[in-house]
Amino acid sequence: MNREEIEKKLLKEGSRVVPIRWEDRRLSLLDQRLLPSSETWTTYDDPDKVAHAITSMVVRGAPAIGITAAFGMVLAAFGLKGQPIETFKVNWLVLAKRMLEARPTAVNLRWAVHRLQAIVTSGNYRDVSRLARRLEQEALAIWYEDIMANITMGKHGQALLPAGAGILTHCNAGALATGGYGTALGVLRAAVSAGKGIRIFADETRPWLQGSRLTAWELLQDGIPVTIVIDSAAGYLMRKGDIEAVIVGADRIAANGDVANKIGTYGVAELARANGIPFYVAAPTSTIDLDTPSGETIPVEERAPGEVTSFAGHPVAASGAAALNPVFDITPNDLVTAIITEKGIIRPPYRESLYAILT
Ligand code: MRU
Repeated sequence: MNREEIEKKLLKEGSRVVPIRWEDRRLSLLDQRLLPSSETWTTYDDPDKVAHAITSMVVRGAPAIGITAAFGMVLAAFGLKGQPIETFKVNWLVLAKRMLEARPTAVNLRWAVHRLQAIVTSGNYRDVSRLARRLEQEALAIWYEDIMANITMGKHGQALLPAGAGILTHCNAGALATGGYGTALGVLRAAVSAGKGIRIFADETRPWLQGSRLTAWELLQDGIPVTIVIDSAAGYLMRKGDIEAVIVGADRIAANGDVANKIGTYGVAELARANGIPFYVAAPTSTIDLDTPSGETIPVEERAPGEVTSFAGHPVAASGAAALNPVFDITPNDLVTAIITEKGIIRPPYRESLYAILT
């Protein structure tokens, strides 16, 4: 599929936003730090600059950073094309190691780079140009598979949502966070397309405001109404009866079903349990990490305190105050009602059910 075909397919499903472009062997990213004020695209031809774009949040969201990292490693391959195969491999692996360090929590980054690495180290290619072209095909496959997984997840997941229900989501698990269409927001898009008449509430999601800036923007691009609430309003709204289900994405799902997602997700899950509301996680199987036994060993990224004490360059805290900025948390598996994947709806006990779909 080329760009037009991808965009046509997504448009047919009612989704306009695609955050990544691959054209003439160059990668362009929609700068998500600037949304919704400005739609600015930046083009990259250097893998280290792509890694920096991931670290600095130009692109974010677990599947989107996996796809971006894959294209970054394709750029690396074309950049090293003039070298003998053995030198190529050594240098490509050095660049891959740097790419893997771009962000620690979302497993999709590692999963995508390792998919390409398996081809580089397979020994099947002696010709560097052929190998680079093969890596390009693999990155494109990772991207298309992600879009198709999201669309399939949408079809499975929307069946869980009652007509007319108020649904709360946290962070941005939408088209912007994926190859297109979205995971949690993909399920909401599918529910809207199915005429469910749902009402979507988006947590603002401090400190980067992925909810109020990104989720709200991309839903409105598709003509889907959304109501933004501040993060601390969730419990009040649930108790009042405005929320009938919660749906979020994931950065990593451990083998026992513990879920790493944007900071604040765990609190929302506890509130959902306390109020008898189902808590759903929508994620492609690329987000499931059977090598991580439980949430305890998932690395949780901590970012600069300045992201908490200032916003867009303006101070929002008393000067001199310390701040902590863990950007993900772990929701224990017993708070997760079901995990929606492209392979179907997974229910507890997760250790058995996740293993069964992945093996
Ligand atoms: O720090 P971010 O914006 O990369 O965090 C993103 C999230 O936590 C998303 O909910 C998660 O990656 C799922 S995206 C489909």
